[in-house]
Amino acid sequence: MSETATQIPTDDTQPMLPAVKRFISQLRDLHANQPDESVRWSEAAERLQELLADPEVKAHARNWPTSPAKLGLEGKHANLIFYQDPDYGFVINGLIKKPAAKTTIHDHGKSWTLYGVLDGTESVLRFRRTDGGSPGDLPKRAEVEATETVHVGEGHVDCIAPWEIHAEYNDDNATSTAVIVRSQKSGTFIQNIFYQKDNSVEQYHGPEQIPYNFG
Ligand SMILES: [Fe+2]
Repeated sequence: MSETATQIPTDDTQPMLPAVKRFISQLRDLHANQPDESVRWSEAAERLQELLADPEVKAHARNWPTSPAKLGLEGKHANLIFYQDPDYGFVINGLIKKPAAKTTIHDHGKSWTLYGVLDGTESVLRFRRTDGGSPGDLPKRAEVEATETVHVGEGHVDCIAPWEIHAEYNDDNATSTAVIVRSQKSGTFIQNIFYQKDNSVEQYHGPEQIPYNFG
């Protein structure tokens, strides 16, 4: 973490909204006291729902930058990064997607992710491998099919377990804004992108991280 400490806030000496400070404290408590990762992240999802409902958080997000253009790009979106915990490694990200933007079909490798919709509406899709492959085997080719599509809006939190294959597709007329919590910073683990057009799979190290203050 030392290589990023000069750019990414790792403590509350940086400008930070009270609700965000409270949320970080809750996440740190969960990491200290809840060893079961599945329970930890489902409880963290409830705390993230509370954060998403905070009026100051909503107001702050209206001024998040939409440039450089990669922040709203089709496919491999960049993330804002607001915080990286110096002890537990979790991070808080922001994501803005333009109307009709689609993410790739991808997983988040070995990390846990909470994807919380702060504003806008979108569809969250889940996929499964149909070629007999196992999660985490980092294939060059794989077949995937959609198993579920859920239309979600403001306040929804999606809990994405390690290696779960998914995508998010924005509605045609809705910019969406999300607060994302990851168990570790993108760039520190490998993840898959699945291309249904030719069943190829690409491995990459996740979205570019652009430091920004949440306060
Ligand atoms: Fe994702």
